[in-house]
Amino acid sequence: MSDFKPGLEGVVAIQTEIAEPDREGGALRYRGVDIEELVGHVPYEKVWGLLVDESLDSAMPDPEPYEPKSLTGNAPSDLQAETARLSSEWDLKKLVDTEDEEARDDLARLSAQMMSIVAKSAAVADGRGPAPDDVVAQGDTAAEKFLLRWRGEADPRHVKAIDTYWICTAEHGLNASTFTARITASTGADCGAAMSAAVGALSGPLHGGAPARVLPMLDEVARTDDPQGYVKQVLESKGRIMGFGHRVYRAEDPRSRILKRTAKELGSPRFEVAEALEGSALAALRERKPDYVIATNVEFYSAVVLDVAEIPPELTPAMFACARVAGWAAHILEEKRTGRLIRPSARYVGPAARSLSAV
Ligand code: COA
Repeated sequence: MSDFKPGLEGVVAIQTEIAEPDREGGALRYRGVDIEELVGHVPYEKVWGLLVDESLDSAMPDPEPYEPKSLTGNAPSDLQAETARLSSEWDLKKLVDTEDEEARDDLARLSAQMMSIVAKSAAVADGRGPAPDDVVAQGDTAAEKFLLRWRGEADPRHVKAIDTYWICTAEHGLNASTFTARITASTGADCGAAMSAAVGALSGPLHGGAPARVLPMLDEVARTDDPQGYVKQVLESKGRIMGFGHRVYRAEDPRSRILKRTAKELGSPRFEVAEALEGSALAALRERKPDYVIATNVEFYSAVVLDVAEIPPELTPAMFACARVAGWAAHILEEKRTGRLIRPSARYVGPAARSLSAV
């Protein structure tokens, strides 16, 4: 108990065969495969198969016909509520009462349905109904079908932007939402409960998923055409430049590298401004903290890539959740196989024993 670490930083809480960021090397591997090899070669749904089943022959299926009960157009809360509801709608068994294969199939159904819920919620937010199934069926990949369901059309540039973003952010070790999913799974709850708990954890702005904060910064630099001045002003006012620095990586974030390349390939109108701001920010941060590596993180070019696909900033946490269904599903299954309840300890620092009258 003497080595209490606030925020559990550096505490090894689980062993995993799925993925863990390579802190020094600036690489991210899913089941040992570098994400550089996946992007542009296999679509997201097969990356789901790699993460969950360790196989590229398996993939996340299409969602089965299902009508969410009550969509508000607020995608993160719609997703959390509707995913929790699926536990009873589909009569999902508790993990403690299922075989691995059945749990895996529940996770596949849930993952596909969760993407469909987000697309339908986004359509509601746009003031229209989702596209009919025959329109969606014209799509090839999960990303294309997602856009068809939401908007009734799927621009190939938008499909590529979303597929790349989803692959890059499909899994990232024991982050807060994945830990939440594993804790819930460790109690023997059903997969719907574990997935919806993860969505709740992810909805907080500190858990990434907030490229929304990057776009206003880019707008400001585009307006003033003075990236150095912008950076100087933020740092002098003790502010933080959004999209730089990372708790885990002490090298370039590999996801940022891929997303930057993609933003350029897709001809993002914000690319030039983003690159200018990145250059000024990295130079200033290096000068200020020569002994501490602060590199571009996943948020910065995620914002630019999602902007190419015309994703409204308020939808970005739900887009992140769509990506992360693969990582969550893989971890829930891995947790089930360990079969051990997660229950750490707390150090009590409250009042000493006293009588009720002393309160
Ligand atoms: N802009 C300005 N200064 C930064 C910075 C940034 N983006 N990131 C780190 N620093 C500075 C801090 O001010 C601190 O300086 P100090 O010691 O003089 O106070 C030092 O670097 C260490 O910061 P700390 O927060 O302890 O480092 P960390 O590695 O734990 O931080 C983040 C990780 C992500 C919280 C941090 O880099 C950050 O706030 N980034 C901006 C927000 C962001 O992009 N979030 C999305 C993350 S995916």
